[in-house]
Parts: sequence; C-alpha cells; structure tokens
Amino acid sequence: MNNSFPIENPSLSRRQLLNFLTGATVAATAGSALYTVGKFFIPPAESTSAGGAIIAKDILGNPIPASQILVEPQGTRALVAGLRGEPTYLTVTQDHNLDAIGIVDNCTHLGCTFPWNPVEQQFQCPCHGSLYAPDGTVVRGPAPLPLKIVQVAVIENSILISPWTETDPRTGEKPWWL
Ligand code: FES
Repeated sequence: MNNSFPIENPSLSRRQLLNFLTGATVAATAGSALYTVGKFFIPPAESTSAGGAIIAKDILGNPIPASQILVEPQGTRALVAGLRGEPTYLTVTQDHNLDAIGIVDNCTHLGCTFPWNPVEQQFQCPCHGSLYAPDGTVVRGPAPLPLKIVQVAVIENSILISPWTETDPRTGEKPWWL
C-alpha cells in the first residue's frame, strides 16, 4: 500500500497541512488560503469492510484516533483522509463526540477543495465563490448540488467512515452521488 499523499497543490496553506498531519484541522484562519482545482490526495489502495467502511487516516496514511480530534473545541472541523482518500471534514459536536455525518471536501461545481470559515459558519470555495451551510447545503452557487456526505462512527477510538447510501437528510431524496 502506498501511504504517501503527494500534495499537488503548492498553495495548500501550511497551517492546513500541519493540522492535517496531526488529524485536527481547525480552519479558523484558512479563509484567505487558495485552494486549486483537483484532489490533493492520491487515493490509497485500501481494503474496505463489507459496508465499505474505512478507518480515517492522516496525510501519511496513519489512522487518526478519535481522541486526537475530540480534544478540540466543539464546532471544530477536522480534515481527514476518508473514502478513496477523499479529504473529509469531521465535526466535533456540542456533547464532544464526532457528528455522524462527514462532509466531503470537494466542491460540486468543479471539484475544488475549500476551507471552513468558523466566523461565517460556512464552507467557502475560493475558486468561484460557492458557499455552503454547515450541513453542506448550497447557500450560493455556482455549485449546483449539496456537498457529498459520508457516515461517521467511532468504535473503540477508531473513526470509521462509510458511504452514505440512505436518503439524503438535506433533500429527502436519493443521494445524487449514487
Ligand atoms: S469549484 Fe467551487 S465554486 Fe467552482
């Protein structure tokens, strides 16, 4: 298995990278960072469970224990490598667990990655200005669709991420990615 995650994006902010390395991204100051089109992870070849679940990892391919993220304040968005290596935001809830829904960091317009703006409480895509609510719903286009979501579960301090195959709770419809 190739555990390396070559970074194709030279403008990835240093803070974002360092936080991702530790598995705890607080995107508080990332609002001015530039995020270019495309993936910045090489999808790791990884086996999945029967339900398609994988263990959340850091940029080096090391599993991230839930406790490492849960020391962060409520409302923190932590960026981890999820399904197929997709960067995925996990949210620390008010009761200090991980939210059961993860948000895939891949703009539905042209695929840019984007930071979380904790002041505006939005995901803000710097490429063409799309804005998303905390649940990934489009606030302003040109993004045509809500952000893809995944299921998140914590079992014995491991973070499991699996495909979201049920009704999209935001639209009440079948997910657009199925
Ligand atoms: S890629 Fe995000 S707005 Fe265009």
